[in-house]
Amino acid sequence: MKNLVILISGRGSNMVAIAEACAAEGWDARISAVISNRSDASGLDRARAWGIATAVVNHRDFDGREAFDAALAQVIDSFSPDLIVLAGFMRILTPGFVQHYAGRMFNIHPSLLPAFPGLHTHRRAIEAGCKLAGTTVHVVTPELDHGPIVAQAVVPVRPDDTEDTLSARVLAMEHQLYPRAVRWWVDGLLEAGVDGRIVLRTGESQLLIEGDGRPPG
Ligand code: GAR
Repeated sequence: MKNLVILISGRGSNMVAIAEACAAEGWDARISAVISNRSDASGLDRARAWGIATAVVNHRDFDGREAFDAALAQVIDSFSPDLIVLAGFMRILTPGFVQHYAGRMFNIHPSLLPAFPGLHTHRRAIEAGCKLAGTTVHVVTPELDHGPIVAQAVVPVRPDDTEDTLSARVLAMEHQLYPRAVRWWVDGLLEAGVDGRIVLRTGESQLLIEGDGRPPG
C-alpha cells in the first residue's frame, strides 16, 4: 500500500477529491497525512473529518526558506511517504527540498503549463484573450510550476467569463483530473519516456476536455 502525503495551504478541495476517489475506487493507497503551512487552512478540518492525520508547519516560525523546508521535510518523512501531493500548497520550494522528493512529488497548477506559471492564472488568461484555459498536473522540478506534464484538462474561455466563473469551472475539472493522475501513479502506470515526457501505460487519456461527451452547457 502506497502512502500519500498531501500538502495544502487553503480550502483543500483537491485533497478531498483525492480522498473521495481513493476510498470510492479502493486504491492500493492511503492518505497518511495532510500537512499545511497555515494553521487556519480550512482543508485541515476537512481532512480531520476524513479521519486523516494532520500537521501544521508554519512558515512564519522559521528564518528563511531553507529552515522551513528542512522542518517541513522532517514532518513529511515522519509519515513515510511514497508520493507527495501538492494541492494548493502556496510556497516556493527550495531546490534541496525538491531534490529530496525528486520524481515523487506532484503539483496541480491552474493553467495550461507552460503558459502562465505563478499567480492569477485565470485573470491573465482572460486578459490575454485566451480561448482555452485549464489546469495541469506535473512532476515538481526546481523551477516554479514547471516539470514533466502528467495530465491536463482544458476549459473553453467564454466571452462573458470573469476570473471567478472561469476559476470555478477549472476547479471542477481539477477535481476530476488530479485523482485520476494520482491513481495512475499508485497503479504504476506512469513512465518517464526517453525525452523526459511522461508516458501513460493505459488506454485512458492524459487530456480531459470540459463537457466532453456531453452537450455544451
Ligand atoms: C487549485 O486551483 C490549484 O490548482 C491551485 O490552488 C487551488 C487550490 O484549491 N494551485 C496553485 O495555484 C499552485 N501554483 P484547493 O485548496 O481547493 O484544492
